[in-house]
Amino acid sequence: DFIKEVSGFSVLEQQLKEILHVDHVIVVPGNSDELDWVKQEMGKASVNYLKTILKANQTIAVTGGTSMAAVAEVMLPLDQASNCMFVPARGGLGERMENQANTICAEMAKKANGQYRLLHVPDPLSEESYQMIIGEPSVGEILELIRDAHVVIHGIGDALTMAQRRKTSLDNTKKIINGHAVSEAFGYYFDKDGKVVHKVRTVGLQLEDLHQSKCVIAVAGGESKAKAIYSYFKQGKSNVLITDEGAANKLARDI
Ligand code: F6P
Repeated sequence: DFIKEVSGFSVLEQQLKEILHVDHVIVVPGNSDELDWVKQEMGKASVNYLKTILKANQTIAVTGGTSMAAVAEVMLPLDQASNCMFVPARGGLGERMENQANTICAEMAKKANGQYRLLHVPDPLSEESYQMIIGEPSVGEILELIRDAHVVIHGIGDALTMAQRRKTSLDNTKKIINGHAVSEAFGYYFDKDGKVVHKVRTVGLQLEDLHQSKCVIAVAGGESKAKAIYSYFKQGKSNVLITDEGAANKLARDI
């Protein structure tokens, strides 16, 4: 155990727990800004963690992005959690196909031997279509599954990187910049104090749905994401962080 203590990242993990006020932190070696396989290591750590918490017949809501795609890539059969249901946390958020929550959710389900349901919603949505879509019974059924998910697993991004990647409109980009947004998760943009400065209008999980009874796991690494991670955890909606050494060292030293 002593060897494990000194060779692992337990000191760093403990530091991050205190800095971010989070229940559980896992740090994997490397910096995913520099090496792609580090994302896969975060993916493996995520799958191992899921194996310890998931029970049979539970629902898991997942978001999009490359970190979540890496989790899907290394997903394994979740034998002790038979008949699990994977759902996308929110509707389309302007990601490319392979990084969309729908795609990731289907891949995870297939590899985990679970079920999945998808959300087919265009984005961005006008207020009118939004109201119409949430009124559809078939959509409502999936939205209920999403709201009641036992486990949520999600990415965190740098606010401006995400605004650009999503080809955000000029007006909304201004809102994000003028609001000094630092991080993004679930389509919400947060400033350095964790205050929401902008929210993408789409269906699915709302921040209010992330209450105490859920296990909410954030998967985000890379030195460049340290500020974003810190900002996101200011509003304290997630209880687990799976990250890498790059982000962890930066968080422990500079923030
Ligand atoms: O767009 C989905 C999403 O999960 C965002 O909420 C998050 O900011 C981003 O992807 C993270 O993406 P990546 O893992 O590629 O940095």
